[in-house]
Amino acid sequence: MRHRLLACCCALLITLSPATLARETAQQAPIIDYGSRFLPQVARQAMVVGPERLAAEIGLDILREGGNAVDAAVATGFALAVSYPRAGNLGGGGFMLIHLDEEDRQTFIDYRETAPAAATRDLFLDEQGEIDRQRSYFSHLSSGVPGTVAGLILAQERYGTLPLPRVLAPAIALAEEGLEVSWALQFEIAARAEQLRKNPEAARLFFKPDGSAYRMGDHWRQPELAWTLRQIAERGREGFYQGPVAERIVAEMERGGGLISEQDLADYRALEREPVRGSFQGFEVVSAPPPSSGGVHILQMLNLLEGFDLKGMGHNSAAYIHHLAEAMKLAYADRSQFLADPDFVEVPVAQLTSKSYAERQRALVDPGRATPSSEIAPGRVLVQESHDTTHYSVADRWGNVVTNTYTLNFSFGSHIAVPGTGMLLNNEMADFAARPGSSNAFGLVEHEANRIEGGKRPLSSMSPTLVLRDGEPWLATGSPGGSVIITTVLQTLLNAMVFDMNVAAAATESRVHHQWLPDRLILESGISPDTRRLLESLGHNVDTTPRTLGRTQSIMLEGGYLYGATDPRRLGGHVAGE
Ligand code: GLY
Repeated sequence: MRHRLLACCCALLITLSPATLARETAQQAPIIDYGSRFLPQVARQAMVVGPERLAAEIGLDILREGGNAVDAAVATGFALAVSYPRAGNLGGGGFMLIHLDEEDRQTFIDYRETAPAAATRDLFLDEQGEIDRQRSYFSHLSSGVPGTVAGLILAQERYGTLPLPRVLAPAIALAEEGLEVSWALQFEIAARAEQLRKNPEAARLFFKPDGSAYRMGDHWRQPELAWTLRQIAERGREGFYQGPVAERIVAEMERGGGLISEQDLADYRALEREPVRGSFQGFEVVSAPPPSSGGVHILQMLNLLEGFDLKGMGHNSAAYIHHLAEAMKLAYADRSQFLADPDFVEVPVAQLTSKSYAERQRALVDPGRATPSSEIAPGRVLVQESHDTTHYSVADRWGNVVTNTYTLNFSFGSHIAVPGTGMLLNNEMADFAARPGSSNAFGLVEHEANRIEGGKRPLSSMSPTLVLRDGEPWLATGSPGGSVIITTVLQTLLNAMVFDMNVAAAATESRVHHQWLPDRLILESGISPDTRRLLESLGHNVDTTPRTLGRTQSIMLEGGYLYGATDPRRLGGHVAGE
């Protein structure tokens, strides 16, 4: 149940003066769970919630100057390429979900990378037919044709209001003039230092001339990245996909044995698609369509879970987690079989997201026993890899909302930088099924539908999602985390829709994950040992992880206020609002 919080929420309001606030709260108090351990930040007009402070503040500046949510999202996306190099990018790809308030509709920009035309099904198999993980994760062959620049520009051209050079200017200045290294940036580079040092250009970009690491408080400039951003500001998408930037990418591909050609770059197109839609207990849920698997499976699991009394079970009780896990297994089993690039494969979206399918699947859930994954399909072994992606959400004063997830795949992608561009290459080709039936870097088993084919988009889990209540945007969210993105977003939605949590509590409460294969239920360490024992007694193979599963950056819109939260259990997230 929600409680109305009065004066004690003053400290959380970002810009309202205490006097204004006292007056306004008396009339219309912001709704925050009084007594929650986790409280959101609150704003009235504009908000950007992202993984890094400088880029979020740049987005807010754009909103202050009269830009809309799309302008701010594009500016934040380009700025993160400078300030958050582990996942912010020019060399990767992603998905943007946009709510256009005046038109009362949502649209979706797919800027997922594509396989180079010369890529073939067995690209990552060695002579014995085994998957060469090194080649698929950390070589020039790992990179798909980057989509980020085309995607951000498409969004800007169709739905932004400011000129492109204006939204790129802050990112250019940040790269040109430099930034002060934060603790988070120092930590992120250190975590991947060994692999980054293997590529001479990445080593030159991310370490000092004497080879030592940048430390918190150091000044870090990226003049080549500023040059690349200027090419885009001056010539739009041609500034990246043709001319000197494209030539440098192709030269690096030729030097390193990669496949991306001039033609691949010239041919790359971001696409506008219809998002997937469903309902849950009166809420409307809008999310990412294929080539993401996220939206389809979030809807599929919500449909299945809608038939159970989740609230009665209690949040994170053994019964609740058991039902989540059973829904997750069924959805991820379907993912392996049916989901892929819809321009290459027919994906049965309508069937997977239908209420009647959910009803049939619900009948498979035994409340008193965990169904072994082997009874759903054969098992595989999880390959543990560091994975990263990033998400941010934006809301403007006109009611427009943007929720965007983009990625290089792993933290720092392939760890290969293109000389003269300041830019890292993605390793998104690893999201294809290197050998149909095998597991990818996230342990996700994938079949024929997601085999490598020239021009195809690899299957993704990225799930920027919007929930509408009474037809109005209510919650914008999304997460990094590879295979855990889908289950992270699912639990965030359930926390808000079923358990009435405020957006900070919804982001921070402990999560669980099951992806069918391997047959392992992962609990964050905040789930109690008693609960773990009960889950084991139902037959679950349970592991507890000290890591956080995913990390949402969310905005909730309620009663004329914007409530923002980033999961505080990971470094560096920031809510910028006014
Ligand atoms: N590279 C992670 C994803 O797209 O799901």
